[in-house]
Amino acid sequence: MFKTIMVPTDGSKNAQKAEDVAISIARNFQAILMVVHIIDEKLIYPFEVLEEDGKKILERVTLKGKDQGVDIQQVLIVGNPTHDMAKIVEKTGADLVVIGTHGKSGLQKLLMGSVAENTIKTVKIPVLLVK
Ligand SMILES: Nc1ncnc2c1ncn2[C@@H]1O[C@H](COP(=O)(O)OP(=O)(O)OP(=O)(O)O)[C@@H](O)[C@H]1O
Ligand SMILES: [Mg+2]
Repeated sequence: MFKTIMVPTDGSKNAQKAEDVAISIARNFQAILMVVHIIDEKLIYPFEVLEEDGKKILERVTLKGKDQGVDIQQVLIVGNPTHDMAKIVEKTGADLVVIGTHGKSGLQKLLMGSVAENTIKTVKIPVLLVK
């Protein structure tokens, strides 16, 4: 059923759980897995460092996926993780999004983080929330 699955990741422990679920679903459906990292345009930090971090996150997921025989495509973009997700999902042509409930901030007393919440609100395709 699913042909292209998208997993956005900030590299956090929470997001890694979503990565693992996404890899396993992609393997079962023989789907392409698009791994997306959004470099937050609001962060005041040297761009080279953020870019390097992003590349490392994507590379780590790619290796994990390859181990399981999953076809992975990397997407590294600069933007607003909370607001750009619907647009990014459309561009990737994904038919399923797998996302963690929490990310780097990991405020567990909240039901979910702002990126997860906004993704559910705005994307038009099925979203799988991983906790
Ligand atoms: N910069 C990002 N790029 C790609 N995916 C992201 C990014 N930030 C978060 N995500 C995805 O969203 C999920 C939920 O993270 P979210 O940012 O909503 O929670 P949080 O960091 O705990 O809270 P908040 O950011 O609202 O303070 C992560 O597990 C990850 O899948
Ligand atoms: Mg966050």
